[in-house]
Amino acid sequence: MDTSPRIGILSAMHDEIDALLKLLTNVKKITKGQRTYYSGTLFNKEVVLVFSRWGKVASTMTTTQLINDYNLTELIFTGVAGGLQNDLNIGDIIVGGDLFQHDLDASPLFPKFHIPLLNKAGITTAFSEKLLKATAVFLQDFKRHIDPSTIAAFKLEQVKARIGTILSGDQFISSSTKISELLSDIPQAQCVEMEGAAVAQVCYEYDIPFSIIRTISDKANDNATLDFPKFAKEVASLYAAGILKAYFDMK
Ligand code: ADE
Repeated sequence: MDTSPRIGILSAMHDEIDALLKLLTNVKKITKGQRTYYSGTLFNKEVVLVFSRWGKVASTMTTTQLINDYNLTELIFTGVAGGLQNDLNIGDIIVGGDLFQHDLDASPLFPKFHIPLLNKAGITTAFSEKLLKATAVFLQDFKRHIDPSTIAAFKLEQVKARIGTILSGDQFISSSTKISELLSDIPQAQCVEMEGAAVAQVCYEYDIPFSIIRTISDKANDNATLDFPKFAKEVASLYAAGILKAYFDMK
């Protein structure tokens, strides 16, 4: 057990981890259960960084191990997501306000989406306002972080950020029929991904403040399988480091 207080950073993207690793100093690396945990200093803060892996089970396991092996003061999740609202475009940012597992349904024993024994469906995040402010700082300086050809290629001229509801489930969503189903159940949902709500539940049960930033990589429709890998590889990694730096500078 590493007892120094640290901020946990969990990312669902290899490219984000690689970008952050380049900036991490005093690195100490531990591999356990097929995950590698990197502790060290990032933008003057003591952190531990790990790739969440994909899906609810994998990310739950990573989170549980992380919380038990390190003395976390908070956990921040970064990654990409499919946009569900019409006005969201690739490159926009959702700071999670609350999260639901959209594939959790133990009805009629419990209402749809309710987490058995916790007696709640949505899990609320910590520090979302502060993270949104950090995102605004990053966006003010966007052109310093992202080069003009990438901005033009991905049409990132008018990137917006807001706090909202994130859905998680063990499915990659790539159909407008599925989007309509999700929105008929949870109309305020902004984006969909495969880990956040599970990680939020683990943090809630261990009483660790949890926050999450998701960048829209696709619109969860027929184009999603094409848009997602391209954005993830070429752009997403540039966002995480920029937003985290602004966030840490505020602490
Ligand atoms: N992560 C990024 N895009 C996604 C999508 N369309 N569905 C689920 N997870 C995602």
